[in-house]
Amino acid sequence: MARWTVADVPDQRGRTVVVTGANSGIGFETARVLAEHGATVVLACRDVARARRAAARIRAGAPTPYRRVEPDVRVEQLDLASITSVRSAAERIRAAHPRLDLLINNAGVMRPPPGHTEDGFEPTFGINHLGHFALTGLLLDRLLATAGSRIVTVTSLLHRYGRIDVEHPHSLPSGERRSRRPYPDSKLANVMFTLDLQRRLAQAGVSTIAVAAHPGIARTELARHLPPPVRVFMGARMAPVMSWLIQSSQTGAWAPVRAAVDPDARGGEYYGPDGLFHSSGPPVVTGFSAHARDLGRQRRLWEESERLTGVMCLVESGQSLSS
Ligand SMILES: NC(=O)c1ccc[n+]([C@@H]2O[C@H](COP(=O)([O-])OP(=O)(O)OC[C@H]3O[C@@H](n4cnc5c(N)ncnc54)[C@H](OP(=O)(O)O)[C@@H]3O)[C@@H](O)[C@H]2O)c1
Repeated sequence: MARWTVADVPDQRGRTVVVTGANSGIGFETARVLAEHGATVVLACRDVARARRAAARIRAGAPTPYRRVEPDVRVEQLDLASITSVRSAAERIRAAHPRLDLLINNAGVMRPPPGHTEDGFEPTFGINHLGHFALTGLLLDRLLATAGSRIVTVTSLLHRYGRIDVEHPHSLPSGERRSRRPYPDSKLANVMFTLDLQRRLAQAGVSTIAVAAHPGIARTELARHLPPPVRVFMGARMAPVMSWLIQSSQTGAWAPVRAAVDPDARGGEYYGPDGLFHSSGPPVVTGFSAHARDLGRQRRLWEESERLTGVMCLVESGQSLSS
């Protein structure tokens, strides 16, 4: 295929999609493209007011060449920093949507203020990985019941700098020893979760697949907690001179969108930009770090995630159980 663009997104009418963190950045653009192609899109966001404003912006969007229908956009409250909130969001989504074609685990934080999630987890790992692990587990039977469904998890180039030491569980970011690289560790966990989930889905012989994607480097609100010079560097004013390295949130969403809709995508694949340093450009299949592919580490992370969240992802029988 020539350079992939959003013009390649197939008709999404009849499909139901949940996008976490869809009120800004990559999540917003992903939700917008899928809604404009006809999907019913649930914006699963922690701040309902921001989510409603995002939904209004999608509905009011200017016509694009591919806008097929009036966007059908819904809002659900979801705070990934609270397993209780994840459970209630999953219940409401299940009650409202008998089918679920796509779950896009997109929401994320980078260097949030110090503290803990409601359940006592280091916040980067708690929000970026554990919250999404629990949400996926709680929606899994709905996804498994929908032929050809997908779970897309948005990770980062920086997963390559993550390290999860399975021999010493306390050096997991969730453990007592504070991680020195919480963001790369959480993004590594996103990758390892995708690969382990895909293996379990394939073993169960179901048509649901798990795919990962990264946006390269994109101008979004992710840098909001970083020092001012970094925010200036990433900001709109630098856009004209930094476009060779940093792309817009619109094109940043292309890799997650392609992972979500490309009919040729296969489980366990990883989509990211094809340009210089893989930071921008059209999305293609790319590669994970060797650390992420280690089966023993993936299994240990899965067990630890089940233990910490109290949500067991039972792919084999298409069930999720809560302890
Ligand atoms: N931008 C990049 O260059 C880049 C590079 C690599 C990977 N990524 C990944 O792309 C994904 C999207 O990030 P972005 O760049 O689009 O940043 P963003 O504009 O800051 O968007 C992050 C989204 O996550 C939401 N979120 C944060 N904490 C949450 C929580 N506790 N519960 C529910 N939602 C929560 C935010 O909601 P609020 O607005 O309410 O805080 C926001 O909607 C992340 O997974 C990030 O790691 C981004």
